[in-house]
Amino acid sequence: MPSSQDLVAEIRSRAPIAEVVGETVALRRQGRRLAGLCPFHSERTPSFSVDPERGLFYCFGCQAGGDVFAFVMRRDGIGFRDALVQLAERTGVTLPEETSERHRELDAVRRVLEAAAAAYEQALSAAVGKAARDYLDSRQIGQAARTTFRLGYAPEGPDWLLATLRKGGFDPGLIMRAGLAQDGRQGQAIDRLRHRLVYPIRDRRGQVVGFGGRALESAQQPKYLNSPETELFHKGRTLYDLTVATGEWREGRQAVLVEGYMDVIALHQAGVKGAVASLGTALTEEQVRILAQAVDQVVVAYDADAAGEHATSRGLWLLAGSGVAARVVRLPAGEDPDSVIQKGGEDAWTSAVDAARRLIDALTDQALEDADLTTPRGKRQAAQAVLPGILQLRSPLEQNEEIQRLSQRLGVEERGLWQEARKLGAPQVRLASRTAGPAAGAGKVDRQRLIEEEILRILVQEPERASQMTDLRFETPGADLVVRDCLLGADPARNESAEAAQLWARISVGDGPVGTWEALYREWLGEGRKRRLRELQEQVRQKEAGGEPVPASLLKELSELKQEDERSRHA
Ligand code: UTP
Ligand code: MN
Repeated sequence: MPSSQDLVAEIRSRAPIAEVVGETVALRRQGRRLAGLCPFHSERTPSFSVDPERGLFYCFGCQAGGDVFAFVMRRDGIGFRDALVQLAERTGVTLPEETSERHRELDAVRRVLEAAAAAYEQALSAAVGKAARDYLDSRQIGQAARTTFRLGYAPEGPDWLLATLRKGGFDPGLIMRAGLAQDGRQGQAIDRLRHRLVYPIRDRRGQVVGFGGRALESAQQPKYLNSPETELFHKGRTLYDLTVATGEWREGRQAVLVEGYMDVIALHQAGVKGAVASLGTALTEEQVRILAQAVDQVVVAYDADAAGEHATSRGLWLLAGSGVAARVVRLPAGEDPDSVIQKGGEDAWTSAVDAARRLIDALTDQALEDADLTTPRGKRQAAQAVLPGILQLRSPLEQNEEIQRLSQRLGVEERGLWQEARKLGAPQVRLASRTAGPAAGAGKVDRQRLIEEEILRILVQEPERASQMTDLRFETPGADLVVRDCLLGADPARNESAEAAQLWARISVGDGPVGTWEALYREWLGEGRKRRLRELQEQVRQKEAGGEPVPASLLKELSELKQEDERSRHA
């Protein structure tokens, strides 16, 4: 039996990255590489690059990167094993038992979820589903929408679903694993959803991954009960309902982002295309990526009551800076998109959308709302509220623009705002003139990490140097895995950790290091020393402020570090 490394290599050679990528992205040759428009974020000028020799892709715009497996995982929103199975099927490579075993298991979980969805659907149209049908009538959800979204009913239980599925030949362990049942008070298994209206949650391929269940009586708590996180259901990585929305996005390149299941359905029913819900949680980076990859425009329509809460969330700032044209609808207090449509029809919705404002303006206003802009202190607080958001914007041009606007609004100098931003962790120094540093706009990069990337670039050219790097404690996530792989002669692009694989892809596709190993190592040591010095000085300060004696060991380390620092400066 071939080793799994051989298998991966075999699949790679039979499904070359240029060919696989070329199916979804129009690529043009540019020297040693191929370039095209990134399929993972929306852009007009190509920053997506494929290196056929190394078998890697990397986007300088959104930092997506990796090998052919990573590409398929990202494109289809699937895990490594699914990508492996998919590419193996395509290339006719036979997988070892263990891999296909895992695949079979996941398949079984999918099948039980599908069977549950079908059972819930049937129950809704059976006699037992009358209460749920009446409820849907009262919410004016017609038959077409019920069918499109596969709405269902979970009967009273306590183990109606368990019994139904067991009759269908499904094993109780599997039913638990799919998140459909849980341990009851007496220790016996009971259905998770009992006497609830059921919304199946599907992925973009139409496969059911979980369920949302709405209470039908006011006494039932909580109002919504969703599937727990499982191997297939990750709340932060899905949107409701991707199956319907994906098709609509392809036509319109426009999404409406709402909070509730019912909002999605009501909008769909009113003829508004491409609505999705973030399942009641704050918008995640993954969800932003799904949207930015699929559409050019997003209209955000969160409940008015929750607007303030969301304004501070990183997700919406990420969306604002993701390259899509994002606008936000202001809904009357106490309303959500569903109730707006119920009361005022499509027209009410259309005029709300016509009055939508740029998301970034709305977020800035929200952040400034409580600030007293007449005092320097208030201005500073306002800046501190808005700057972290601005640092989430991907494009430096956009950051500049927003800083300019903020400076006008606050009546303070731009330079001061940049200084404030720097304190909050903006990149301080650009080593050389990299066009796309590590998440250049993300505001989290410090000099040490920039140096670390340069050090890793050495490994692209001389992987055997890894043996000299084993004692480096890297700040950059994934860097230690990259070094370990090089040490073992493995390919970091294939690392199980997406962080490591992406990091490697980015630096491999980019240019060589800006300095020699010796020089960069010295810089790295110096940076670490400075950091430690700052830490120790802070500790000393705190002790002194609290009137406590400063431990001798602390002072010793401090003086040693200072000496070393002196020496290195004159070296
Ligand atoms: P809402 O309370 O706004 O409900 O929660 P809704 O979607 O408007 O529902 P209807 O119109 O009363 O039927 C918004 C979303 O937050 C999540 C659900 O995903 C819901 O759609 N949520 C809410 C929960 O997960 N659990 C809860 O208890 C409440
Ligand atoms: Mn509602």
